[in-house]
Amino acid sequence: MVSTRPVRFTTLSRDPATSARVGRLETPHGALETPAFMPVGTQATVKGLTPDLVRESGTRMLLANTYHLALRPGEETVRALGGLHAFMGWDGPILTDSGGFQVFSMADRSKITDRGVSFRSHLDGRLLELTPERAVAIQEALGPDVAMCLDHCPALPASREDIAAAVDRTIAWAGRCKRAHSRPDQSLFGIVQGGSVADLRGRCAEALVAMDFDGYAVGGVSVGESREEVRKALEVTTHLLPADRPRYLMGVGRPQDILAAVATGIDLFDCVLPTRNGRNATCFTARGPVKLRNAAHARDPGPIEEGCPCLACRRFSRAYLRHLFNAREMLGPILATIHNLTYLHRLTAAIREAIRAGRLVQLHREVLEALGP
Ligand code: GUN
Ligand code: ZN
Repeated sequence: MVSTRPVRFTTLSRDPATSARVGRLETPHGALETPAFMPVGTQATVKGLTPDLVRESGTRMLLANTYHLALRPGEETVRALGGLHAFMGWDGPILTDSGGFQVFSMADRSKITDRGVSFRSHLDGRLLELTPERAVAIQEALGPDVAMCLDHCPALPASREDIAAAVDRTIAWAGRCKRAHSRPDQSLFGIVQGGSVADLRGRCAEALVAMDFDGYAVGGVSVGESREEVRKALEVTTHLLPADRPRYLMGVGRPQDILAAVATGIDLFDCVLPTRNGRNATCFTARGPVKLRNAAHARDPGPIEEGCPCLACRRFSRAYLRHLFNAREMLGPILATIHNLTYLHRLTAAIREAIRAGRLVQLHREVLEALGP
């Protein structure tokens, strides 16, 4: 049967030893291969980079945030200017997060009820409310290729009772989002919560799968629990999500964690790590982090990473980049961000190649040996 979903997923290759797969995600704004990493463009910009630089770093799809864009400039302004793609000058695929997660981390005070989340804007203190229906309406106005359901992600550690309540609310809100969603050129993904509790993850996944979303995210990880617990949550969740839909792990970007998640069958990632670390002068390399502010780089003529094809590594030395950061020049954060995104996109390309060659386990082992656990 030919799918009429606005975002379609096909599996191109499967790793024989793990649940990893190479896929193709087709969206109204173009296609990309997965596993893929989406940089975070919270305010309709990947901080410091023009869309051409974002693309040159290997980015094919990026993430923007409902919460921030609804507060400023307002979703109706974005709609009036032709939607997020036209507004920000990015013609590739875009996914927006639904806002609840950001309300908890950004807003001055937030209060959650079954109706939705009420909060005070971190910009001007206005009292606002985000309901499932409103989160969908904002995302329909913004116009990304993929919209996310409003979910409730409890901070961990939390009691079983609190996690169960968040799961029930997340399921109810997913149903309301699905009923409210009407844009035919946009897909809506559900988000599985459930903390580190296997049966609650299972309950949430089953309920969302029954609602037949275009894709599924695993949320509520890396919110205070151990790496071991994150791994367990993924192991009990990913295989419950339909193999013919994209699976997206929210907020994870450490190379080691990406590899572990890919092995369970995850296809998409987003994280502020490469962009935020870049702005703080910390660069990813295959041998571990390079801190450009270190005195050791003061007269280092070499690039951030030997063999890296990015603009920063092709043209500039560690010594020069260190100087830019010390002098607080804006080119420093820009170049370090370009390098970090290039690093992560080269990693996901290597992952896709390893899956195709049936050697993901070896690649995973090599990365752990180089970077540590
Ligand atoms: N980003 C990282 N984790 C989450 C989550 O659990 N829910 C949402 N909506 N966004 C996230
Ligand atoms: Zn580089």
